[in-house]
Amino acid sequence: MIEAAKDVLRGNDMGDFTKPGPNQYPHQWNWDSALIALGLSFFDIPRALLEMRSLLNGQWLNGMLPHVVYHGHETDYFPNPGFWKIETSRYAPSIHTSGITQPPLLAIILRKIHETFNIPDFVREAFPQLMSWHRWLHDDRDADNSGLVCIVHPWESGTDDSPRWLEILGGIDPSGLEAFARGDTHYVDVDERPYPHDYQRFIYLIDLFRRSAYDQGTIIADSPFLVQDVLFNAILYRADKDLQALGDVIGEDTSVIEGWIRRMEAGFNRRFWDDDAGLYYDFDVRHQRKIQISTGITFLPLFAGLTSPEQAERLIHEHYQHPKHYAVDNQVKYHLTSASKDLQGWDPRRYWRGPVWILLNWLVYHGLLDYGYTREAAGLCADSLALMSKSGFREYYDPRDGTGCGSERFSWSAALAIDWLS
Ligand code: GLC
Repeated sequence: MIEAAKDVLRGNDMGDFTKPGPNQYPHQWNWDSALIALGLSFFDIPRALLEMRSLLNGQWLNGMLPHVVYHGHETDYFPNPGFWKIETSRYAPSIHTSGITQPPLLAIILRKIHETFNIPDFVREAFPQLMSWHRWLHDDRDADNSGLVCIVHPWESGTDDSPRWLEILGGIDPSGLEAFARGDTHYVDVDERPYPHDYQRFIYLIDLFRRSAYDQGTIIADSPFLVQDVLFNAILYRADKDLQALGDVIGEDTSVIEGWIRRMEAGFNRRFWDDDAGLYYDFDVRHQRKIQISTGITFLPLFAGLTSPEQAERLIHEHYQHPKHYAVDNQVKYHLTSASKDLQGWDPRRYWRGPVWILLNWLVYHGLLDYGYTREAAGLCADSLALMSKSGFREYYDPRDGTGCGSERFSWSAALAIDWLS
């Protein structure tokens, strides 16, 4: 299985970056690349470092690390650089990228790689760039001065069409948006991709941002999508801690990071924990309301170390193991469905509306281990490996029968299989 996984990574290798999927995702994606670097590190350290370096090459002058770096390749992928028009921003880099970011996994992965393979020179090289990305997040995206950061587009959450975003998207009026042609349904069945209604609003938001020349103050003031996302903040908290540890390795002053960590600790549970439901809910900053939708993201604070043992117990017993929500049973054979089974509109083959994603499983697996749920963690690892050996390294899987969905030969699934098996 490790050899098959390496073959996927090699097949998607473009020289200095790795495509998430051969046809569906032909450029470099931010958090995908972090995971790909982790997979590569087990058999080719120089190539793993190059993967991270190429991603960091797309960094904006204000520190933002974009969600896609195009590296000058012409493809049929939409939205393309001509659509993003990032050159309207004075902070745009000299190479083509998207104009939004993605969950900041890179510091977490770099620390993992460093602790296994001891790469202090690369840590020294990457630290200032990671620092400026995190600083940009804490400075430019803390919309209400709470210590929590906002995302301004569903794609920034990494869980593009999650049911968490539907109500906000439903309230957006996309009139005035010029016609465009989707590129994401050429290679993947349309029933496994976002609905046209939602896709139109994804593009509408990009159009809004480019019209404001990607000025963050204007975007925070105007974007109808302005959300404190549990996943993004949990990842950032853990990434800040790992960045602090990396800073200590190379003797950097990390007191600023300490401040970010303390503020996140003070605000996280107050904002996201719902004691009635025993769940974490995202917060819609624009409309000042909780987003009361249960998805697999509710387990991410376990990965971050941001939940108490009592809260963890409620998450596991009232949700992860509950027959109505996330438990495996006669209908659902594999953990972890990306949305609760009893959610209206639960769709086991459509993108983030229900299928199992290997990345989500891997993050929750580590959280379960950290909190002592070793049996559940072992089950989650076993389910993930079973899905990949049954249906190959796919983008996501139907939790009922393990059918592979979305892109074939999906890089992060392969990379995480290598990590698990190594
Ligand atoms: C999809 C996923 C996102 C991922 C990208 C490339 O857009 O939702 O998380 O980064 O594909 O794999």
